[in-house]
Amino acid sequence: MNKIRLGIIGLGGIAGRIIPTFLKHPKTDLRGGFDIDAARMRRIKNSYGIIMANNAEELINDENIDAIYLAVPPKLHHDFSIKIMRAGKHILCEKPLAGTIKEAKEMHEVAIETQIVHAMNFPLHYGFAYDRIKELLEAKSFGALKRIDLSVLYPVWPRVWQQNAWIASREEGGFVREVFTHFIHLIQTTFGPINNIHSFVEYPEDESKCETGLIALGELENGVKVVFNGITDVNQETDLRLTIYGTEGSIELKDWNKLTVKMGQESFVSSGDFKNSSKTSNSTFKMIDAFYQAIEGKESNVVTFEDGLLATKVVERLLGNV
Ligand SMILES: NC(=O)c1ccc[n+]([C@@H]2O[C@H](COP(=O)([O-])OP(=O)(O)OC[C@H]3O[C@@H](n4cnc5c(N)ncnc54)[C@H](O)[C@@H]3O)[C@@H](O)[C@H]2O)c1
Repeated sequence: MNKIRLGIIGLGGIAGRIIPTFLKHPKTDLRGGFDIDAARMRRIKNSYGIIMANNAEELINDENIDAIYLAVPPKLHHDFSIKIMRAGKHILCEKPLAGTIKEAKEMHEVAIETQIVHAMNFPLHYGFAYDRIKELLEAKSFGALKRIDLSVLYPVWPRVWQQNAWIASREEGGFVREVFTHFIHLIQTTFGPINNIHSFVEYPEDESKCETGLIALGELENGVKVVFNGITDVNQETDLRLTIYGTEGSIELKDWNKLTVKMGQESFVSSGDFKNSSKTSNSTFKMIDAFYQAIEGKESNVVTFEDGLLATKVVERLLGNV
């Protein structure tokens, strides 16, 4: 079995969470990493014994590396990913694909042109809830689709566990890019494109800061409405839920992994192993496995840059950037 020789650019929050799962995969040969933050590089080196490069280009141009996991802030995805693909390396890019639709389109075009494996980290796609929702919908017991409702409440943004400058910035942060993206991807792969978006975004006075609220409406091709509702800085527990309403019942996915099916007076609760990219997360393992399968030319359910572009289009329309 040939291993996949991997490099990692960006060794911050998400990379720190995913590295143990990469190392758990028998096909991973982790060859090196790089981050502009020397302290972070030292921490990761000390924890996992990974060799650190002197700069990102060293990894991108290393002939002994097959693939790169790119985990830098969103506005850097474009330039780095294009260099990586042009250097002939397969790429696993963090979401959101890019900070603008134009950049996302360019990245997608280069991915097609270079025929490089272009994967994205949407762990929800590989988790229990995604499969279960599909099964439930295929069983057709919910009747006709009536409405989809995505709603988030965060007591503070950035969240306590993700404190960094970019996540609070209007240019590349905010809950719409950071959180909605995952669910937009789920909705679009399950029900088709979301069009006809009307959105009201609330921003703080400081023009450098990201949204604090959003109320929006989109439409599926069959006319079914998708309602978006997001709010931050409300002194209450975090509440994140996607609800799919049918004429006969509904499916609610709460906090990433709690699925409740409601039919008439009855409700059934189940929860899976999906924790947002946690160290033991099975969905992250499956995501990495799908990436490796695609590199080996095998059939794979890898999430591609095309999926990332479709999600970015909706995200940037919701934010009124189009
Ligand atoms: N898929 C998921 O579930 C998930 C979860 C969290 C974050 N993310 C995404 O992952 C990406 C990174 O997020 P994060 O929370 O880890 O952010 P972070 O700020 O914690 O980490 C980013 C790292 O990139 C480094 N970096 C910045 N510029 C660089 C450069 N030029 N060269 C090399 N390294 C550089 C920073 O020093 C930092 O260590 C974002 O796109 C974010 O949206 C995805």
